[in-house]
Amino acid sequence: MKAKRKVVTSGRSVGASRQASVRRSRPTVEPPRPRARAETRTPASAAPPVEPIPPASVDLSVDLGRGLVLPNPILVASGTFGYGIEYGDVVDVDRLGAICCKGTTLKARIGNPTPRVTETPGGMLNSIGLQNPGVQAVIDKYAATWAGWAVPVIVNVAGESVGDYVEVTRRLEGVPGIAGIELNISCPNVGKGGLQFAIDAGAAAEVTAAVRRATDLPLLVKLSPNVADIRPIARAIADAGADALTAINTLSGIAVGPTRQRPLLGNIYGGLSGPAVKPVALRIVYEAAQTVSIPIVAIGGVTELADVLDFLAVGAVAVQVGTAIFADPTLPVRLVDELAAECAGRGLASHRDLVGTALPKKAAAPSAKGVEYRP
Ligand SMILES: Cc1cc2nc3c(=O)[nH]c(=O)nc-3n(C[C@H](O)[C@H](O)[C@H](O)COP(=O)(O)O)c2cc1C
Repeated sequence: MKAKRKVVTSGRSVGASRQASVRRSRPTVEPPRPRARAETRTPASAAPPVEPIPPASVDLSVDLGRGLVLPNPILVASGTFGYGIEYGDVVDVDRLGAICCKGTTLKARIGNPTPRVTETPGGMLNSIGLQNPGVQAVIDKYAATWAGWAVPVIVNVAGESVGDYVEVTRRLEGVPGIAGIELNISCPNVGKGGLQFAIDAGAAAEVTAAVRRATDLPLLVKLSPNVADIRPIARAIADAGADALTAINTLSGIAVGPTRQRPLLGNIYGGLSGPAVKPVALRIVYEAAQTVSIPIVAIGGVTELADVLDFLAVGAVAVQVGTAIFADPTLPVRLVDELAAECAGRGLASHRDLVGTALPKKAAAPSAKGVEYRP
């Protein structure tokens, strides 16, 4: 049986909508200030008169390929929104662009030893270790609920071998309620000495191609920022058949324990996320957007509309909100409304007019060439 795709043919944004009923808690992660805003306006002197349009008439839909058309470009990031069901009482999940669920493996995983998270300036470090009940339990517990939702659910898949990824994908294929797959390839490739798939173009392409052969589901592949040059990896994944890229996963880091006798996290290494990683995510999206023609969904430090506009400007067609959800689960839905209002105020029929405005006309030299070094 084929999977039920969540396809939106007329992707009009919904105007006034149910507001989530939780009070906004004080953010534990403070964004750095002052913040750079997206420069998408023409200078005032040259600006043509703007004809505002009603927010409800702005087309926010996003085509990620293979029939996966999202109602809007604001998704929730894997590992920060559970399986969606946990947030059902506080967020109108059907107003999201899509839900990327917690990383799912073939067998259940209990995760890493504690402590698993710690706050850092402008972000957090986590080493959850892909705790999850395994693919069959995920299907049994959640897929029926997902199938009743309008929001597309994209299952984030992780593994330790190409065979793992393929087998998890095969189990998900044809299950109603699953709209697509996002490959988390920042995982150790056990057959290759534990080297992460995501940091090697050949390994990234191999796992992408194998999963591509195993499924007709829309396939998103998530880039790691922990590489010297993202371009060959992005190209290899696109050539191997991915429908879209997502970027970025967390940056590898450590924290030191209070007695300074060992690193703080039980797993030693953790992944840095939150506002602190946004400039890195912008760079990776900027470089990938000049390298591939498949859509890119940006992730990394989104806390407000200006962040969404910045990521669109460097070529992303959509964004995912991650760490900021822990401080305010209502943020993603509010960003949908704010983006519609922003477009409407500028007289734009679609947010697509904001995509790629900060990209160079000709592909520019990448950071790997040391272009930021000026002797
Ligand atoms: C607690 C936590 C758990 C995460 N788990 C996953 C995961 O299972 N799979 C995955 O691909 N990314 C995972 N991520 C990475 C996020 O999806 C996202 O790529 C990253 O946090 C950057 O976005 P942010 O700065 O908005 O949080 C996790 C992040 C956090 C903070």
